[in-house]
Amino acid sequence: MLSPTQLQIYLDVATEAVLAGGAVLQNYWGNLKDIQEKGRSGDLVTEADKASEQVVLEVLHRHVPDHRILTEESGALGNLDSELLWAIDPLDGTTNYAHQYPCYAVSVGLLVQGVPQVGAIFDPSHQELFRAARGLGATCNRRPIRVSQTQDLSRSLLVTGFAYDRRDTPDTNYAEFCYLTHLTQGVRRSGSAALDLAAVACGRMDGYWERGLSPWDITAGIVLVEEAGGKVTAYDESPVQISSGRILATNGWLHSSLSDRLLQVPNLAEWQ
Ligand code: IPD
Ligand code: CA
Ligand code: CA
Repeated sequence: MLSPTQLQIYLDVATEAVLAGGAVLQNYWGNLKDIQEKGRSGDLVTEADKASEQVVLEVLHRHVPDHRILTEESGALGNLDSELLWAIDPLDGTTNYAHQYPCYAVSVGLLVQGVPQVGAIFDPSHQELFRAARGLGATCNRRPIRVSQTQDLSRSLLVTGFAYDRRDTPDTNYAEFCYLTHLTQGVRRSGSAALDLAAVACGRMDGYWERGLSPWDITAGIVLVEEAGGKVTAYDESPVQISSGRILATNGWLHSSLSDRLLQVPNLAEWQ
């Protein structure tokens, strides 16, 4: 495991990386010339994703040249034998970004032996920098953040998302979305998993769930939620598996009730 000093050093590397990526994204904002679909319908990539990824990688290559890296646009890089793995989303919320809807982020997280330890998420539109490292707490713009205190699902505000494979699978998350909309004060869909987790960490949202995610979407956000006092697991409350793509993150108070609801979504006809 990493010492607090090492964690702080890597947190500063992650911070430098997300700020560099964020500056690139702000430069391309509103000026995209190359928007393409990556295989699946709706799964976009732009020149801004690629340019942000390049500057994030430059920062990592400079500071941690012997670590393993996994990025959304380039895949596996670096020292494949290293136990330290950086998971990078150079633009989380590409669909929003391409439509000039200002809800997107750069997310850089560090896993040690598969466990998230460090995370930085930068939201350029709102100039919010979220940071956390295991045992060192979570902050937004250098101020400590905490999860909400909402204890009843009926008083909660939740957020979720829908993966790009939603037209190819029966596991769409549509039924869960409808059911939880019915049971809560609302369910939002922001279009950025990293910002969804950051919103749970700072108490704006009480809980978040989603399937079909990748390690780069959630590594940084998991550290944020846990360090802000929240809980992150699989839907059934077992330890979260970073590669399973499924995550339930809450303020802790709502965790079991939300897990129960996600595991037993009745047919629409039964709850209307
Ligand atoms: C997507 C966003 C979205 C989530 C998708 C992700 P991208 O990432 O995080 O909120 O619902 O599952 O793939 O493609 O914008 O980096
Ligand atoms: Ca993403
Ligand atoms: Ca992305």
